[in-house]
This record gives sequence, C-alpha cells and structure tokens, in this order.
Amino acid sequence: MEAAVTTEGSSRDLLIAEFDRVRRYTETLCKPLETDDFQLQSIIQTSPPKWHIAHVTWFFETFVLPGFIPDYKPFHPHFDFLFNSYYNSQGDMHPRAKRGLISRPTVRDVYRYRAHVNAAMRGLMESVGDSKWDELHFRVILGLNHEQQHQELLLMDIKHNFSVNPLKPAYRDDLEIPGGKSRPMRWLDRSGGVRRVGHEISGFAFDNETPRHDVLIRDHRLADRFVTNNEYLDFIEAGAYADPALWLSDGWALIQRESWCHPLYWEQKKDSWSQFTLGGVRDLNPHEPVCHLSFYEADAYARWAGKRLPLECELETMLSGQTVIGNFTDSDLLHPAPAGDAGQWYGDLWAWTSSPYVAYPGFKPLAGSMGEYNGKFMSSQMVLKGGCCATAQDHARASYRNFFYPQERWAFTGLRLADDV
Ligand SMILES: [Fe+2]
Repeated sequence: MEAAVTTEGSSRDLLIAEFDRVRRYTETLCKPLETDDFQLQSIIQTSPPKWHIAHVTWFFETFVLPGFIPDYKPFHPHFDFLFNSYYNSQGDMHPRAKRGLISRPTVRDVYRYRAHVNAAMRGLMESVGDSKWDELHFRVILGLNHEQQHQELLLMDIKHNFSVNPLKPAYRDDLEIPGGKSRPMRWLDRSGGVRRVGHEISGFAFDNETPRHDVLIRDHRLADRFVTNNEYLDFIEAGAYADPALWLSDGWALIQRESWCHPLYWEQKKDSWSQFTLGGVRDLNPHEPVCHLSFYEADAYARWAGKRLPLECELETMLSGQTVIGNFTDSDLLHPAPAGDAGQWYGDLWAWTSSPYVAYPGFKPLAGSMGEYNGKFMSSQMVLKGGCCATAQDHARASYRNFFYPQERWAFTGLRLADDV
C-alpha cells in the first residue's frame, strides 16, 4: 500500500510526491471515460465527472494558492462561480442541479486548468518559507483528503450516470468479479461502559471527528459481516415492501411514492435477478453483501430480522480495534465482495448506523470558509462508518464520519446488524 495522506511532519519532497500521487489517481479514474461521459448528471446528487475534476482543482486555487501567493492570478475569472460547490462565504455559485449543462469549458480546458494549478502548487510547496510551512502543509493535506472524497464520488456518480442509459454500459469491462461464498453470520458480544470516541491526536482528521470524548455504551452484539443479497431476498419475498409495520413513517411514504420494491440497480427478469455494476450488468450474486440501500430499507430489514442497526459509537469502538484492511479501491473490484473468514469490518460498503449526524460535544468548525466544509450539514442526515469499495484504503479510519440523507442510496451503502444483549 502506498503511504497514507497524513498531517504528520514530512519533507517538501514527500508532500509534493503525495500531492502528485493523489492528483494523478483522479485522472487514472477518468481514463476509461469517453469525452461524452464527462458531461453526465443523472440526478441532482450526482455531478458530472468534468465538474468533479475541476472542483477539486478549484479547492486548491481558492483555499491554498491566494493565501500564500498574494498576486496569484486565477486560471479563469469565472471558474470560481462555476466550480464552487457550497461555500457561501466565497460568493455565489452555479446551481448544483445544473452542473450537467456546463458544456464549456471543455474537458480539455479542465485538464489544462488542472495542469496550471498543479504547477502553481508544486512551485508553492518548493518555495514557501519555513514560517508558513505548517499552515501550507495542513491546507495541502486537507485538499488531498477532499480530492479523495471526490474520487469516491466520481465512482458512485459514474455508476448512477451510466445506469440510466438503456444500453447499460460498463465503466470498466476488465473488472474482476468478486468470488467466494458467504458464511454464517457470527455475533460478537461487546461489553458496555464509558468509552472514548472521536479522532485521536495523531494523523489527519476532518473537524467533524473532533473533539474526542466519552460516551456511555450498553452491552450489545455486533454482526461480523454485512447482510447478503440472499438474506435480503428473503426480506423481499416475505412481502416486507408491502408491510407498513416494518417501516419508519417517512420510509413508508418514500417507498409508496417511488414504488420501491428492491435495492437500487436490481432488476428482475422472470425468476432471476440481475444488478447493474461498474462492470456492467451482472447476475445477482446471492453471496455478496446487499448494497445501494437507503437508511429506511436498512432499518426495515433490521426490524424484520428482530435486530437493529448499530449506533455510531458501537461501530467506531469496534473499528478502532481492527486493522484498516478490506475491499477498498486498492482491490480494484469496485464492488462489494462476500465476507471472508475474518470479520468484514472495513471496506466493501459504508454501513448505515442509527446515529444522526450531529456535532460532538465541544465541536468547533475550522476557522473561516473551511468551517463550511462539514458543520453546516449537521441536520437530517445519518452517519455511516467504515469506508467502501470505492474508498482509498489510506482514507479510511475508525473515527471517519460519512453522512447521507436517509432516502439516498446511490452511494455504496450496506447493512450491518446489531442487537441488544
Ligand atoms: Fe467538494
């Protein structure tokens, strides 16, 4: 595995190498795309690949370069408007729902933009004075972690963008199909008590993972793997999508309104099921973890199974005792795989928790515009833990708090059960 993106002191050469590595991987992810693919935005939640690769560049051009180079001249006077995502303190922005309408700048222009900013960033990292090094180092690492988040979004968004095409094209036709069979679910007894959660002192973390603090956890049990497609089929065949007693009120209204009766990307033909993947349409593998569920579907399954979803603190304390290994982008499957004999903790799928995404006690957002990164989204969303098959391995950690609205399911989301003792 390559070195992790970290804030711990490193030389200029190491930081430049890290910058180049992460920036290059974004372009590697885009290599299988045709020019036409760069423009697609299938739903408001997804962004066109062209927008993603410009926006992560805008981040460095906005939050790093001008702060260190007073006479820095932006690559284009209107890119600040086009590629600002949601930073109101930076000024107005193009509407999110209309990102797919920006045919100019072209893809070629955006790659020129990337090269321009890369050169400026390299020059800055080579020349900045020692007194400004720590601040630059922090901002570069933040920008690289931001770019890694968008690398994951690129894959999730490409999948959805491609799925609405009746031809169901594959993003990659050389992806290996995960092998192996599921095994019985094992339950781990976890004793309760006062535990510490949140980011530890060393290494990079986003502000929303801080401060580290005490939580009171009850005795509980955790399933050591995700729920499989086969197990979820039992839920479907039991008529669960037609049984209001299993659903939270908002979830029941949603599945009625949208006529949902199975996970996203599943398709039934006579007696068999298939699913759309980044490798195109495949037969549904009963042994794989069920994926692309909303929070409401995960919650309803848990209720049907007589169990519940884990709390964030239960999962985080379990993850903090595990090595960060699993099915990440480094595995190059880009799809969840059946659980091996060891526990399935990190990677494969983001596990829904029953914990709302709210501030930790004493939370302070980063100063200035960076304070808009995470804190302002702390309402009406749920926390997910563990990383997924579209996450870089060196981007995952126990304290990481991903968050999505409960109705969203285009991300690589999965379902892990918990139980009270
Ligand atoms: Fe962003």
